[in-house]
Amino acid sequence: MNILILGSGGREHALAWAVKQNPKCDRLIVAPGNAGIAAHAECADLDILDGDAVVQFAVDNAVDFIIVGPEAPLAAGVADRCRAAGLSVFGPSAEAARLEASKAFTKEICDAAKAPTAAYARFTDATAARAYVTAQGAPIVVKADGLAAGKGVIVAMTLPEALAAVDDMFSGEFGDAGAEVVIEDFMEGEEASFFVLVDGETVLPIGTAQDHKRVGDGDTGPNTGGMGAYSPAPVLTPDIAERALAQIIRPTMAAMARRGTPYQGVLYAGLMIKDGAPRLVEYNARFGDPECQVLMLRLGAQALDLMQACAEGRLDEMRVSWADDHAITVVMAAAGYPGAYEKGTKIRGLDDLPENSRNITFHAGTREKDGMILANGGRVLNVTARGATLQEARDRAYAMVDSIDWPEGFCRRDIGWRAL
Ligand code: GLY
Repeated sequence: MNILILGSGGREHALAWAVKQNPKCDRLIVAPGNAGIAAHAECADLDILDGDAVVQFAVDNAVDFIIVGPEAPLAAGVADRCRAAGLSVFGPSAEAARLEASKAFTKEICDAAKAPTAAYARFTDATAARAYVTAQGAPIVVKADGLAAGKGVIVAMTLPEALAAVDDMFSGEFGDAGAEVVIEDFMEGEEASFFVLVDGETVLPIGTAQDHKRVGDGDTGPNTGGMGAYSPAPVLTPDIAERALAQIIRPTMAAMARRGTPYQGVLYAGLMIKDGAPRLVEYNARFGDPECQVLMLRLGAQALDLMQACAEGRLDEMRVSWADDHAITVVMAAAGYPGAYEKGTKIRGLDDLPENSRNITFHAGTREKDGMILANGGRVLNVTARGATLQEARDRAYAMVDSIDWPEGFCRRDIGWRAL
């Protein structure tokens, strides 16, 4: 089969690597891709937010299956456009992807599903929001309603921080995404990510992970898109996972189906766990990045069969087969990230790294020039390894990190500390 993956990050490199392991895959195209993806797939220059362009490209290239990586094309309706053209696509409709694209919508659905989550209020003007925050006090969580590239959620530990977040959102810092603001109670506990596939009806768990959002060791410094992740997440025990399915995920999916917008694709539930009880922090309508990297290393070739069954409404026939092992990914980022950083710095030593089913360096922001790999973004490499234990996987990943020669890059040295 001919497969098209949309996206250009470490998540899409991991998806491409897993898909390529499956003998069903004849031709693999990733649009737009990156320098690492180019080792497994053809990279194509395509505007992935333009549904008509994606459909035309898929028809011209006899694509049998499309996998949508990031949230922006989902929110733009690219999966709808592909389905309407009779193409097989993995990814929710724009209406279903509102579970990520609108925080207020998610809260409405959680109300309808009676899913445990934080109490909240919604605002469309700063004065009322400021008064509410002042009355509630800190800590408190301020969320821009719409997509804000991972920057629209502020966990404010003090009242001045919370008021500043409200002002920033209503001052247009997040564009239309901040036109409405959701303010939630702060939830205590340990956060973990639960990934399930949903084909509109059947919900199939495919794994758990935890990421490290802060830039610095010891979970310090500003938030990032994620500086590393590991799977499984020990805090999400089988019992808690079952409770999350029964109390949160299945009722939400049933509520989506009832309103005529059934969900099809991967659903990423961010959960807060305290005293054995899970509560919903947020939904995402895509794989996490870098959580996808650890999930794909553990799932391997079956990932394609699972995504296809999901797109075709056959998840009830599927079982996930897990090796009883652990995977970890360490993000290497450009100095300065998540603030300003330099592009174009040279990365050496990648050719000497092992690449097999236990060790692989996924590329996020890279490009190739004259045979040299150059940094081309904030998060640049995802050094990923598997092991019989998390410690073994971690030792292997950091040994790879240490053999990469990139003076302008950095990483956290404590990925996985919570589980170890
Ligand atoms: N790593 C967090 C996310 O993908 O949203």
